[in-house]
Amino acid sequence: MTDATENGTKDDTSTAAPWWTRAVVYQVYPRSFADSDGDGIGDLGGIRSRLGYLAKLGVDVIWLSPVYPSPQHDNGYDIRDYEDIDPVFGSLSDFDELVADAHSRGIRIVMDLVVNHTSDEHAWFQESRSSTDNPKRDWYWWRAPREDGSAPNDWTSAFSGPAWTLDEATGEYYLHLFAKQQPDLNWENPDVRQAVYAMMRRWLDRGVDGFRMDVINLIAKRAEFIDGENRGAGLGFTMGPQIHEFLQEMNREVFAGREGEYLTVGEMPGVSIEDAVLFTDPDRAEVDMVFQFEHVSLDSGAHKFDAIPLDFVALKTNLARWQDGLAERGWNSLYLNNHDQPRLVSRFGNDEQYRVESATLWGLVLHLHRGTPYIYQGEEIGMTNVRFESIEYYRDIESINHYREAVEEFDASPASVLAGVHARGRDNARTPMHWDASEHAGFTTGKPWIEVNPNYPEINVEADRASSSSVFDFYRKLIALRHENETVALGDFELLAPSHPTLYAFTRTRGTETLLVVANVSDDAFDGDLPVDVTGAGLVLGNYANDTGGPLRPWEARLYRL
Ligand code: GLC
Repeated sequence: MTDATENGTKDDTSTAAPWWTRAVVYQVYPRSFADSDGDGIGDLGGIRSRLGYLAKLGVDVIWLSPVYPSPQHDNGYDIRDYEDIDPVFGSLSDFDELVADAHSRGIRIVMDLVVNHTSDEHAWFQESRSSTDNPKRDWYWWRAPREDGSAPNDWTSAFSGPAWTLDEATGEYYLHLFAKQQPDLNWENPDVRQAVYAMMRRWLDRGVDGFRMDVINLIAKRAEFIDGENRGAGLGFTMGPQIHEFLQEMNREVFAGREGEYLTVGEMPGVSIEDAVLFTDPDRAEVDMVFQFEHVSLDSGAHKFDAIPLDFVALKTNLARWQDGLAERGWNSLYLNNHDQPRLVSRFGNDEQYRVESATLWGLVLHLHRGTPYIYQGEEIGMTNVRFESIEYYRDIESINHYREAVEEFDASPASVLAGVHARGRDNARTPMHWDASEHAGFTTGKPWIEVNPNYPEINVEADRASSSSVFDFYRKLIALRHENETVALGDFELLAPSHPTLYAFTRTRGTETLLVVANVSDDAFDGDLPVDVTGAGLVLGNYANDTGGPLRPWEARLYRL
């Protein structure tokens, strides 16, 4: 980007920047957000009834996790019908009303698009499995057994066990990188691609504002299916050679010629910075931004549930590399938790003594990076991980399968496996939203589909908003700041004191304005020298009520204008 002051007014670059550079996205996990009909499962009516809350927070976009009809083996990420709404969540007319209400409040709705796989109950798969010469046979990945009858290769599924399941009807195996109820679509078949694009166009016609694309870099496979390729962090089975071609085609077929402002974000396990630049370079027209996984993989050892201590320096230098890598071309998405990750305050903060301080510290740090921030429901009131005492209480297919496999097949001790689930399991994020201190946290009048976190009487929306140190209020200020301040949205990022073991410090600069973030990621006060002299600098925002200007207190974070 050239210096705007050289060739025109300063506004040239800011008005040219897409709307989502100034936007904040809020992820709703519909099952767990708000239940309007007392069946114990959140629904569209519940979301509608809380739009005022989200408008007050000030978010620009809601990303809705899947609400399509689904047998719910993976809580809706196994879709039976792309064209409808699961009755458990409501109807298409409820959906239309939600979109209309959200739009009237200036909030956009982004749908989850899950097209690497369907449910095994989807009509396409039902046809595909019916015979080897069915016209839809080639819509999925079918392979004959090896000579000894075993699966075509040794790949394992992300949810434990083999990635191939034998279908007795035709004696062939089908591929599923996730659960066996989630067969992978064959994107090499042009009819599959056209069917998906047509479906996407119909949702846009209905008024949705874009898509969060589930594991979208997995749609292009390396169809040689080489043994060993889906092990380890490299995820060699992702990013097949046609990935960019498919995404460019999708972009063209779905968005070309449409008036309107959309957002696309591709979830991409294993994506590197170099790849992300290609995916998000606006000139290539693929996706607006990607969800990368490097920073949420640093505190796992051999596998996801093998929780190891976080190396804080590794975390901040990793995020800084992504800032630098996408500074010239492309755009970052910013997140520290979602429906697949533990709660950020339990993972990166101190969820006991300094819960509010560490929740707001990470909010400030994340929202002051360059990129589009994503808030996961409950993050804005500092909700924490849950520790159910037995696997019986867990509902997540990934945690349950992992527990079974580890305990039954590998003889691991149940307590040690449960400790891994406590630290990294996805149900940490999926317990119901805490609205107030009434029964079931005000989430439902029925019996919740998963137990409520027992700390809801202390941690809930009502209590937080009544508190003088409200996390919600702090997030509201962060969101407003991004809306108002061009430096927050677009300024250049520079990490300071990169190897300091507890200080998170960086600047954002645009034109003549420089903002400085200093954050003390520790239970102890920080009274060393700051990397920049802040004498005379104005405090824009801090997470302690009374700024002493003195040493940073435990988990204190400040934003200065230099
Ligand atoms: C994505 C989703 C996750 C789901 C998986 C399979 O990672 O975020 O929840 O289980 O894809 O669809």
